[in-house]
Amino acid sequence: MRSNPLAYLGAELDALREQGLYRRLRILDGEQKSRASVDHRSVVNLSSNNYLGLTTHPLLRQRALEALNTLGVGTGSVRTIAGTMEIHMELERRLAQFKQTEAAVVFQSGFTANAGTVSSILGRDDAIVSDELNHASIIDGARLSRATIKVFPHRDVTAARQVLEALPREQRTLLITDGVFSMDGDLGPLPELCDLADEFGCIMMVDDAHASGVFGRNGRGTVDHFGMHGRVDVQVGTLSKAIGALGGYVAGSKSLIEFLCHRARPFLFSTSHPPSVAATCIAALDVLEGEPQLIERLWENARFFKAGLQALGFDTGISESPITPVIVGDGALAMTLSDRLFAEGVFAQGIGFPTVPKGRARVRTIVTATHTRDELQFALDCFRKTGTELGILGAG
Ligand SMILES: Cc1ncc(COP(=O)(O)O)c(C=O)c1O
Repeated sequence: MRSNPLAYLGAELDALREQGLYRRLRILDGEQKSRASVDHRSVVNLSSNNYLGLTTHPLLRQRALEALNTLGVGTGSVRTIAGTMEIHMELERRLAQFKQTEAAVVFQSGFTANAGTVSSILGRDDAIVSDELNHASIIDGARLSRATIKVFPHRDVTAARQVLEALPREQRTLLITDGVFSMDGDLGPLPELCDLADEFGCIMMVDDAHASGVFGRNGRGTVDHFGMHGRVDVQVGTLSKAIGALGGYVAGSKSLIEFLCHRARPFLFSTSHPPSVAATCIAALDVLEGEPQLIERLWENARFFKAGLQALGFDTGISESPITPVIVGDGALAMTLSDRLFAEGVFAQGIGFPTVPKGRARVRTIVTATHTRDELQFALDCFRKTGTELGILGAG
């Protein structure tokens, strides 16, 4: 009998179970909505990135169906062979217009947009200066590029400057930050980093995955929010969160985009989006431009919920966005709080080490434009009950 060469994986999973870090997938029984059925239980959903509720928007559904009926379910090829349809080009033109850049290119996901871009525009002689909490796709792209990677402490512009001062002035250098950090909901210090990029001659890049559809005019992102147009060379956005569908994109100069179409490996070696996805994303841009009240509603809900959690006495960290962490410290306590909330009817994910530093475990909440006040008040009541029972909130 052949012994199982993958037996070590089982042992690693056992270790995760012993440490209380093994997570079973929660399963949605229906649509991704503010009140959803998860594991056969109706819950107020505070775990999705569906910021504007576009996953179920009637216009997006209708355009997806039209594209399915007229263009089929798939493209059958990568973009560079036979997988580019006119609808892909239309989406890219719309994105460039929306972001006020010369051009844009769409990738299969935000992950491949980051990883494919960083790994192709930098090489082994170059340097990457990156915030320590930047997304995993940036870290992977940086590793694939074989460039020298220098990490600076979270949002520490002075430390970033020291790193840049220590690098040879002639070395090509990428300075990169997330626009919104996904675990704390805080913003990258974009204006200060743009100043550094100008001073040191760096390529400036921002990953606006959680800012797309949320920050800036009509959801144009943090570059628009901070008035940094023309000062960020590479803007990444995602079509998978507020836009409600799937994909990522890079917006920038014409030569950047043409280069990515020739060198970014996910663009060259992985099949393009089904036309229904491109149609959905174009419809989402129509909604961002035509229904700005959705973004206003998102922010009203975010302010209401954040203030409610703070009034109860929870530590909500330094969030400036609709992502609000409830920081409890201990990893097991965060998972227990999440489980107890779920039992009460609120779905909010527990997050511990290594996703966040040891001692900073939390339950992460994300509100959307489509949550009703009743749903949010219900969630606050459940947070009060469970937080008190677990001794996270003081007596009374
Ligand atoms: C900051 C950040 N960048 C990139 C991504 C990847 O985006 P996508 O889910 O579209 O692959 C995510 C989310 O998963 C993210 O939070």
